[in-house]
Amino acid sequence: MNKIKKAVIPAAGFGTRFLPVTKSVCKEMLPIVDKPTLLYIVEEAVASGIEDILIVTGRNKKIIEDFFDYTPELDSLLEKDGKQEYLEISRQMEQLANIYYVRQKHPTGFADAVMCAKAFTGDEPFAIMLGDDIIYTPPEKRPGIGQLIDCYFDTGKPTVAVMNVPDADIPKYANIRGEEYADGRIEISQIVEKPAIKDKFSNDAVIGRYVVDKDIYGFIERTPSTASGEVYFTDSLQLLAKENRLIGCRFQGKRYDAGNKLEYLEANIEYALRDNSLKDGVREYLLSLAKKLK
Ligand code: G1P
Repeated sequence: MNKIKKAVIPAAGFGTRFLPVTKSVCKEMLPIVDKPTLLYIVEEAVASGIEDILIVTGRNKKIIEDFFDYTPELDSLLEKDGKQEYLEISRQMEQLANIYYVRQKHPTGFADAVMCAKAFTGDEPFAIMLGDDIIYTPPEKRPGIGQLIDCYFDTGKPTVAVMNVPDADIPKYANIRGEEYADGRIEISQIVEKPAIKDKFSNDAVIGRYVVDKDIYGFIERTPSTASGEVYFTDSLQLLAKENRLIGCRFQGKRYDAGNKLEYLEANIEYALRDNSLKDGVREYLLSLAKKLK
């Protein structure tokens, strides 16, 4: 099977939508039940065959490095107390993948974060995964980024994840025009960053999963910047689309926007309902709450 070994996770944002907690805890470490949101992304990558992960960080992100590091004080305490189950959980975090870090020193957006990965990815194709997008797939199914990797190798072209959204959500995402030539596969002819509803090409939005190759760096360098001086990654993808080199993959799975407070809460509830040790209690609580709210 064709394999992609490297993934890049941009994580330099300030997480302003979650203030005040993000004053000192970065948004990637906010938990869904008992795991930081970033861990869901890393686990999706690992379950899709990825071995090396570059996290593009910034100031205030040291706790990310601590999380994936060895924790000798905690581990020896757990060992001493015979808490084997917890010790295993702690140790798994150190062994998940080879995790590398680079700092995006002057965070000027997504394309700039991708440029920070150039030395790490070298000549290999790689995945890009945005931390606000959590994609749940049942354990027996290929994870979200795995589905894109398969599409990349089938088509030989850079691939983005696509999801149908209602009109009201059009301005939140990159929007595409294209032709669906096979089940869930779209040849993209145009892509634009966050259009107004009246300017939409379709109701197909791009979600934060991408598989690209080393040519992306040249495309980013050739992308004109916007009035604010930022280069939009979506504009670089548009240059690829113009050359018929961009595919949309309608992934299967349930996606949560962990950057949105309401969906973040929904994710917590739904993940708790999937957890055997919590589901009965949570269900009972929700049912009694629903009665009270009626
Ligand atoms: C980013 C991208 C956008 C994409 C979205 C997916 O936007 O710029 O093209 O559709 O992620 O979640 P952000 O959510 O960071 O504003």
